[in-house]
Amino acid sequence: MLCRMGGSLVWSAPPMIRVRGMRKSYRTGKLSTEVLRGIDLEIETGEFVSIIGPSGSGKSTLLHAVGGLDNDYGGSIEVDGKDLRTLSDRQLSAYRNGNVGFVFQSFYLLPHLTLIENVSLPAVFDRGDQALADGPLLDRAHEVLRLVDLEDRAQSKPTMLSGGQRQRVAIARALFNRPKLLLGDEPTGNLDSKLGAQVIELFRKLNHDSGITVLIVTHDPRVSQITDRTLRVEDGRLFEGASPASGATAPEGEADGTSSPAEIAAKPVELEEAGA
Ligand SMILES: Nc1ncnc2c1ncn2[C@@H]1O[C@H](COP(=O)(O)OP(=O)(O)OP(=O)(O)O)[C@@H](O)[C@H]1O
Ligand SMILES: [Mg+2]
Repeated sequence: MLCRMGGSLVWSAPPMIRVRGMRKSYRTGKLSTEVLRGIDLEIETGEFVSIIGPSGSGKSTLLHAVGGLDNDYGGSIEVDGKDLRTLSDRQLSAYRNGNVGFVFQSFYLLPHLTLIENVSLPAVFDRGDQALADGPLLDRAHEVLRLVDLEDRAQSKPTMLSGGQRQRVAIARALFNRPKLLLGDEPTGNLDSKLGAQVIELFRKLNHDSGITVLIVTHDPRVSQITDRTLRVEDGRLFEGASPASGATAPEGEADGTSSPAEIAAKPVELEEAGA
């Protein structure tokens, strides 16, 4: 992007994530509920960011759209300068596999596969079962296990590991294709405090050492305390900071605080009445 700095024009990189006026409604039968009502967000390359907010406020909905798991929304989402809405389903799937690493609350490891096989699954999705016979891909599988300090367990099965170790394997798998963006949806949600702390520390280290952009949705205050920046989804909008009281301003017309988040966010609309 060409920007004016001082008296001259210079090239500046686009933000890693740019969301503009993003809206999302879910339909259940005749009812449509608008969960996100105009999200604007910019995250620069290399940032380490958490998103908090009440249950049901739309955190996962936002994360899934940024990760290309959903493209049915209003507004726009650009990742690394690419407008996700312009991608076909096939291109969106290639975008996910090549650019995004997902880590979920459930680890989704395949119990009958070894760790080295589990972390290689992104290559298997791309190239089929023979992917592991490829020397460089096998090297990459060892490398990502080394990054999460589990290379010595390469031939173990997930059932032989602790919850924290399993989540580290899931992180290694997410890193396999060298994504630009690492997205976590409650990655410590199934872990006790000690194992959760190790996993958070791993995210921090990966961000610090490799500069990968990290965005984590969480209810866990230990996660939001360690990230460089915390955002909060509430009332279908996104606020900067851990709570509105910490400096965020409510959107115009909604600043009186008389409606609770649940009242505002979950306002179903009869589709027939709304003319849909
Ligand atoms: N596929 C769907 N169909 C209909 N409603 C949905 C669907 N997915 C999510 N919702 C609704 O959208 C709202 C936001 O859901 P979302 O999962 O994004 O919330 P969240 O902030 O991640 O919550 P939690 O912290 O509990 O994970 C909720 O009211 C949920 O019931
Ligand atoms: Mg969620």
